[in-house]
Amino acid sequence: MLMDILDRLTKKNTIEDGLPAIEDAATFVDAESLASALKQRVIGQDGVCDDIAAQIRRRLALARRGKPVGVFLLAGPPGTGKTHLAKVLARELERQLLHFDMTQFASGSHSLSQLLGMTKGYVGSDTYGKLTGGLRDTPASVVLLDEIEKAHPDILKAFLTAWNDGFITERSDGQAISTTAAIFVLTTNAATERLAELSVQHATDPDAMRSSAINALKEAKFAPEVLNRIDRIFVFRNLAGLDVARVTALEIEDMIHGYGLQVADQGIDPKIILALMARHRKMGTAASSRDLVRSIEEQLADSLIDAKKRGYARISLVQEDDQRVVARGSTPATGSSK
Ligand SMILES: Nc1ncnc2c1ncn2[C@@H]1O[C@H](COP(=O)(O)OP(=O)(O)O)[C@@H](O)[C@H]1O
Ligand SMILES: [Mg+2]
Repeated sequence: MLMDILDRLTKKNTIEDGLPAIEDAATFVDAESLASALKQRVIGQDGVCDDIAAQIRRRLALARRGKPVGVFLLAGPPGTGKTHLAKVLARELERQLLHFDMTQFASGSHSLSQLLGMTKGYVGSDTYGKLTGGLRDTPASVVLLDEIEKAHPDILKAFLTAWNDGFITERSDGQAISTTAAIFVLTTNAATERLAELSVQHATDPDAMRSSAINALKEAKFAPEVLNRIDRIFVFRNLAGLDVARVTALEIEDMIHGYGLQVADQGIDPKIILALMARHRKMGTAASSRDLVRSIEEQLADSLIDAKKRGYARISLVQEDDQRVVARGSTPATGSSK
């Protein structure tokens, strides 16, 4: 009897050992830490960050149904962080980002070959398309389809196949490339004003906001077959005054990184940014974060280069009496001779 059981157990193990590793093994992400990482980089969109982190956790933990992990639509006004969120998401999930700007795919057949490769017999038919090649090499990518409303209907059709069948066909050699490990993130600026109104109107009711956002996009002639297929829509809100200051601070940090320098631990003094915004307002322009960064870079460039030359790794920003902002070296680079 005992032998019998042992025997069966051994056999069972042998069978299981012989199975290939399950292809789309479920992965687990901690939604809370993902959400908080997203919120640190994507300002003023806390609801979206919480929601998308929860969605991704759930969908990654699910046994696959032969479909992509998710097809997500980010909608809302331009300059509110939609493209930015897709990039931050890829970074936080440690996934490759395949970024497609749909304005480049407004013409049909020609641009289709960029995505899916060139049919046999044509010049270039030995190279894979950017989408098929990217997913063949890295199936678990984040695929960003930026400004999807600009894409030609033939391009949309190819993506609908990719989402519904769980694979796309590379045209040069006919190989089926799986899309089941990929996360598709679509962005759109369609119906901006209506969506901005809705996000105020339904500020406390995200379910109502999502369903009326879908209706608003339908009314704006956004491709209904895409709306029917997406797994979830996320509506971005306009950034409020203080959010613009926080976004500007992040962008100034990025700009400083571009000079090979870090910002000292205490960060950028918000007073500096608020003063900058006030000055722009006086000039009669409600400055975007980009304008603000440009204007501060003009003031800072020389002192940043100088700090770098003198061997500093970290700087802080200080405002001089004449209101000019300059960088002061605060921590020398390790191993520096100065
Ligand atoms: N909510 C935000 N949080 C942080 N940065 C933002 C935010 N919104 C915009 N930005 C900054 O502005 C730039 C443009 O934003 P983007 O994501 O391209 O806007 P869109 O919503 O039009 O896609 C980004 O690269 C980012 O640096
Ligand atoms: Mg964008």
